[in-house]
Amino acid sequence: MSTVLVTGGAGFIGSASVAELLAHGHRVAVLDDLSSGRRENLPEGAELFVADVADAGSVRAVFRQVRPERVLHLAAQISVSRSVREPAADARVNVVGLLHVLEAAREAGTRRVVFASSGGVLYGEVERPAVEEQALAPISPYGIAKWAGERYLEFFAREHGIEGVALRYGNVYGPRQDPHGEAGVVAIFSGRLLAGEPPQIHGDGENVRDYVYVEDVARANRLALEAEAGSLLPGGGAPFVAFNVGTGRGTTVNRLVALMRQALAEVAGGDAPAAVHGPARPGDLRSSLLDPGRIGRRLDWRPQVALEEGLRRTLRWFAARREAIAPAGDAML
Ligand SMILES: NC(=O)c1ccc[n+]([C@@H]2O[C@H](COP(=O)([O-])OP(=O)(O)OC[C@H]3O[C@@H](n4cnc5c(N)ncnc54)[C@H](O)[C@@H]3O)[C@@H](O)[C@H]2O)c1
Repeated sequence: MSTVLVTGGAGFIGSASVAELLAHGHRVAVLDDLSSGRRENLPEGAELFVADVADAGSVRAVFRQVRPERVLHLAAQISVSRSVREPAADARVNVVGLLHVLEAAREAGTRRVVFASSGGVLYGEVERPAVEEQALAPISPYGIAKWAGERYLEFFAREHGIEGVALRYGNVYGPRQDPHGEAGVVAIFSGRLLAGEPPQIHGDGENVRDYVYVEDVARANRLALEAEAGSLLPGGGAPFVAFNVGTGRGTTVNRLVALMRQALAEVAGGDAPAAVHGPARPGDLRSSLLDPGRIGRRLDWRPQVALEEGLRRTLRWFAARREAIAPAGDAML
């Protein structure tokens, strides 16, 4: 058991991670500016500090009060298209915010920082599941910031001995994801299907993604926080390591919609509308897949929730809150 500070803990992946950490006996504090996260996402037992990671003074004050041994850094500006329109605003949170967390961690004597990186935006187009050693090729400011974040973690590991773990997530889906965002195609399609509206697919729907259920991701986060340093990095050296957190299995958007319509029939009954296709979006990857072999070998993490089951759980969650969700807009893929 240790004291963990989760930045972005009131968000989608954050709140699932906070629940997972509390269930395993950790003391959990959350730093979140509630820009997209919600207070009501937080389970009982986590102390919330409303603060902006871009504000160095507030971050330092939270660290001084909490004195975390370990940090899970999830707080971020998560919109890739916003990062393209406003790269400086993206970097303010995603680069400078991370640096504030790392500097405060050094001052507070924090031992390890686990950082939410991203597979798809770092590896670019792949034909088979990407491995961590593969060359990284971020093309959006969002991806460039994740890439830089990993380098800063590596620097703080080498220079200051703070253990750094970058987790490169696939397409995370599950309850509490924002159905109004631009990403999170499962949440967007859930909103539309439950409103009786057809999901909108950009292009032919044959784009392939690696969907990973949020509770599996929360468990990967916990294992990365808890692991012995020796199992993170069997070879020793500067304590920085990157892990893919995906399934290695690809699903096309067309198949995803078919599975969601089937899951909806099981969960809520009735016939869901078929998808409609619009023009392809420039810049969308054809295929993004992550090989989870390294995290399997070193942390004994394997995805446990199959896509069909994860979709049922997600639709059930959204169906229970149907009135609260207005029909959602555009899809990501
Ligand atoms: N969802 C995915 O598929 C996915 C894939 C790859 C990486 N990630 C990364 O995982 C992390 C969590 O993403 P999510 O999907 O849960 O999104 P989310 O928007 O639900 O979570 C982000 C959280 O950070 C908070 N936040 C934003 N800006 C902040 C700031 N300046 N100061 C303090 N808090 C701030 C938000 O209020 C929110 O609670 C992000 O770093 C994201 O880049 C997500």
